[in-house]
Amino acid sequence: MGAEGAEGGHKLWGGRFAGGPAPELEAVNRSITVDLRLWPFDIALSKAWAAGLAEAGVLTAADAVAIQQGLDRVAKRIAGGEAPIASDEDVHTFVDRLLHQEAGEPAGRLHTGRSRNDQVATGTRLWAMDAVARVDGMVREVQRAIVGQAEQHLGTLMPAYTHLQRAQPVSAAHWLLSHFWPLERDRVRLANARSAAAVLPLGSGAIAGSAFPVPRESLRAALGFERISPNSIDAVGDRDFVADLLYALTMLGTHLSRLAEDLILFGSSEFGFVRFSDAFSTGSSMMPQKRNPDAMELARGAGARVLGDLVALVATIKGLPSGYNKDLQEDKRSLFDAVDAISLLLPAVAGSVATLTISAERTRGALSSSMMATDLADYLVRKRVTFRDSHAAVGRLVREAEERGVEMTELPLASFEAAHPEFGPEVMAELRPETSVSHREIDGGTGPAAVLAQLERAKTLL
Ligand code: ARG
Repeated sequence: MGAEGAEGGHKLWGGRFAGGPAPELEAVNRSITVDLRLWPFDIALSKAWAAGLAEAGVLTAADAVAIQQGLDRVAKRIAGGEAPIASDEDVHTFVDRLLHQEAGEPAGRLHTGRSRNDQVATGTRLWAMDAVARVDGMVREVQRAIVGQAEQHLGTLMPAYTHLQRAQPVSAAHWLLSHFWPLERDRVRLANARSAAAVLPLGSGAIAGSAFPVPRESLRAALGFERISPNSIDAVGDRDFVADLLYALTMLGTHLSRLAEDLILFGSSEFGFVRFSDAFSTGSSMMPQKRNPDAMELARGAGARVLGDLVALVATIKGLPSGYNKDLQEDKRSLFDAVDAISLLLPAVAGSVATLTISAERTRGALSSSMMATDLADYLVRKRVTFRDSHAAVGRLVREAEERGVEMTELPLASFEAAHPEFGPEVMAELRPETSVSHREIDGGTGPAAVLAQLERAKTLL
């Protein structure tokens, strides 16, 4: 391997073929445009492999050093902008070609006992582990933005909706934090996906395991993996970790989409609860008055793409026979696309949330007295009336207010007393949204102290 082929390209294979591959095959087979970004990890794992070969007595210490120093120079060249050439089939071929230029004869010994099958699995896992760390940091920034807004709106009251119908008053902080916890669960899923990726395949060779006694424990420690793959056939064909990460990203994209949908809705003139900053609003080419929440809409849209990546990957794996199959080359397309999409989105969502303004006046204005109907029923329950009877009595009051076209606060006390004899004059206080939330100091409820405790809990997680 490793020789400059007759056709001029550097190939990792080809000895058994009389002629070169057709250009049509080369075109479909080439993955360098997708997998180039694996290069730092390809170099790291090759340096570890060279050390392992030396430990196994396959390489002399001098050759191992020559290879490792050569790989360092290759890294410098690629970091400095050196681009692949047309004949570089994939990132492994590219790095190997440059290594031959940098290290000469010892370079031809590096691929001993390994295959691109265990190599690409190892590199992709390292890339995925690194990606999780980056994405996790960006998720925390969105959470920070949510917490920052929540801190300012502990006392702001707004309607909470079920079926998108006004349901009950809550503090705006409580609503904001309702988007914090799904992201926290996403962080757990991301951590689990990282752990699934942290299994070392190197040493599995093409499928049967390396014939040279390279100490895999040294490789594991050198590369920062948590565990060693227990079966070489499984190791080269296992892309569960990609599916796990794509699922975590799909859920993350889903949560960003739901947050975006709330904000788009609440940012409409009809609601007017939130207003996006100039920095995170776009205009219209035709309508001068427009202030569009494009970042939020793109967050909603990108969620769909990431789900598509997950579906593509799982469908790719599903029908494969055991071991490595070239279909698996597609894994990186899905993985990189999803990570790219989410990585672009998270800072835009964080910025949009951090800089938006919530109008306490508008949210307060959307609270109608009928939203305290449950509180009226609860008031009767505290006077030992059954909830069933209370519900019916309050229902009558709601209907009466509706028929008269007034708020329940405008009904005379006589109406309350007629609906149920247990109603007394102090019932009017129950129609205040502040009273409603103050009753809900249960853990996880919207009572002021409960929300403050929730906020503190959220802050300790950052
Ligand atoms: N470019 C390939 C991939 O991404 C590397 C592994 C190729 N192995 C092989 N035997 N052709 O999956």
